Amino acid sequence: MERAELIQALKDRFESDAFLGAASLPVFGEPEPVMHRVPMADDEIERRRVALQVIDDSEVKGCTQCGLAETRTKTAFGVGAPNARIMFVGEAPGHDEDVQGEPFVGKAGQLLTKMIEAGMGLKRADVYICNILKCRPPNNRNPAPDEVLACRNYLWRQIEIVQPEVIIALGAPAAQTLLNTREGIGRLRSEWHDFYPSGTTGVGDPIPLMPTYHPAYLLRSPDEKNKAWADLKLVMSRLGLPLPTR
Ligand code: URA
Repeated sequence: MERAELIQALKDRFESDAFLGAASLPVFGEPEPVMHRVPMADDEIERRRVALQVIDDSEVKGCTQCGLAETRTKTAFGVGAPNARIMFVGEAPGHDEDVQGEPFVGKAGQLLTKMIEAGMGLKRADVYICNILKCRPPNNRNPAPDEVLACRNYLWRQIEIVQPEVIIALGAPAAQTLLNTREGIGRLRSEWHDFYPSGTTGVGDPIPLMPTYHPAYLLRSPDEKNKAWADLKLVMSRLGLPLPTR
């Protein structure tokens, strides 16, 4: 396009924006607004919110599909935006989550919130947070295979409804369950993997998945925080989120 044509096209565009009542005209050099959630119509967000609520209220809260139903106080289904770009998946509720009925609200949860807000520059409410298991295993032991099997379907449906652009698996049990592998988290982290929502590798469109260390592990091993931060930066770069300048 010639320079004169370009100027005319821009003039027309500005005039039509002004005519249509655009709040402000575009300014050259202004960065694209950062997309923290997937833009979508309010009624679609509401449809997703209700779909998640129905699974929680009518299935999860009264679930007796494994032995954890006998020892739990409350189930902790999931929390966050139904149109989140990022879904964090942890292992299972701990003591605080069991009491409050919400994932990641204890000490590990506070660190996760810091990673999301101070680290990634997002709001906790912009992402979706859940676990492999919806009930606390006694004494926070690792999830047993039969418990994972009984609970897995709830997570598959959460992923299907939210359709995140990226999944971050926190710790080995989450990464191993989602990727159907026995590989350790030290080897899995820092690389992109494919999560297949169908549960069958190679069928349907995969969701990119980044495994990283669980915040509870980072509280015990703070020297590893820089590795988790490196993993989160890979996610931010993939999603076009601005990296903090520090
Ligand atoms: N650890 C988890 O994996 N999930 C929680 O919700 C809390 C602690």
